[in-house]
Amino acid sequence: MIYLDNAATSFPKPERVYKAVDKCLREYGANPGRSGHKLALKAGRAIYETRELICKLFNIDNPMQVIFTSNATDSLNLAIKGVLKEGDHVITSGMEHNSLIRPIKALEEIGVENTIVKCSKEGIIKIDELKKAIKKNTRLIALAHASNVTGNLIPIEEIGNIAKEKDILFMVDAAQTAGIYNIDVKKMNIDLLACPGHKGLMGPQGTGILYVREGIILKQMKEGGTGSKSESLLQPEIVPDRYESGTPNTPGIVGMGAGVEFILEKGIDNIRRHEEELTEYMLNELKSIKNVKIYGTKDAKKQASVISINIGDLDSSEISYILDQAFDIAVRSGLHCAPLAHKSLGTFEQGTVRFSIGYFNKKEDIDKAISAIKSICEEIE
Ligand code: ALA
Repeated sequence: MIYLDNAATSFPKPERVYKAVDKCLREYGANPGRSGHKLALKAGRAIYETRELICKLFNIDNPMQVIFTSNATDSLNLAIKGVLKEGDHVITSGMEHNSLIRPIKALEEIGVENTIVKCSKEGIIKIDELKKAIKKNTRLIALAHASNVTGNLIPIEEIGNIAKEKDILFMVDAAQTAGIYNIDVKKMNIDLLACPGHKGLMGPQGTGILYVREGIILKQMKEGGTGSKSESLLQPEIVPDRYESGTPNTPGIVGMGAGVEFILEKGIDNIRRHEEELTEYMLNELKSIKNVKIYGTKDAKKQASVISINIGDLDSSEISYILDQAFDIAVRSGLHCAPLAHKSLGTFEQGTVRFSIGYFNKKEDIDKAISAIKSICEEIE
């Protein structure tokens, strides 16, 4: 099987991730932060070490500001619903995933206004439009670093500066970029950073993080046992406990830590360079195939390793089915949980066939995908 669905989840994982999860489950799978015995302390330490590794990756000063969640959706819900109150205004874009748009739309019910800044037909956000959308009550700018449909990147540092200048909070959804692109929360003025642990961070599914800048206090999404302040019937205020009730996903977090360690060791620039080279190669090959329409910037320097295409008027699901069944190639088709992006691109009816490249893909994988696409094109001629 040629796996080109890394935007959904990265696969395979580095060998050390499997080993770390196995070791945790077998050797110290106790409940961290609760009991005081050696195994519980070891589990607690392993979780803390992952917080530290995440800090290294994103230039975060305080490991306690890294909140563990179940996935990016969880992180986005906590950030968006935790920060916005009645009367606030939030700005987002017409390229966002439902994990970001749905919580924002749900807040309309309690009187939180939103502006969805329109994007070009290539799915590019217009910064001028974004600036124009700022109002007196704008509390948050919430955007994905890269579209999960086209891979289009946004200039996060520039937007971070705009937000800072206007005293607006800036939240970045790094679902498609964390672990692949340099993200520096201080340099880029990111107040809230959400990402999954199972994509670019190479950890297991069921993991995610939310970085919350010191000084920002979110409304917690849940209350419960934290292992701290057990005498109180109220949720503790200290972070990360305030946001992390219940037994954590220790094996998952430890696995994510092993993934981050792998990234730090390989070097994020080397990971990105590899993915960028394959993306550029695939884009160039695709550009020469008649009947293939490519969406997005079509420039590997301006997009993450996500390529969306269509072949003539064929249904995108049919193509992904053929790729899977006849060529043993795994991709994703349809709307990719991002209907707004498809409205921007004009693909709301057809959807797109999405190829998403990961660190473990090789040039031969791209060659096979290109050859399969050519065969499908020949069939329909
Ligand atoms: N958000 C993931 C995707 O784009 C699941 O496929």
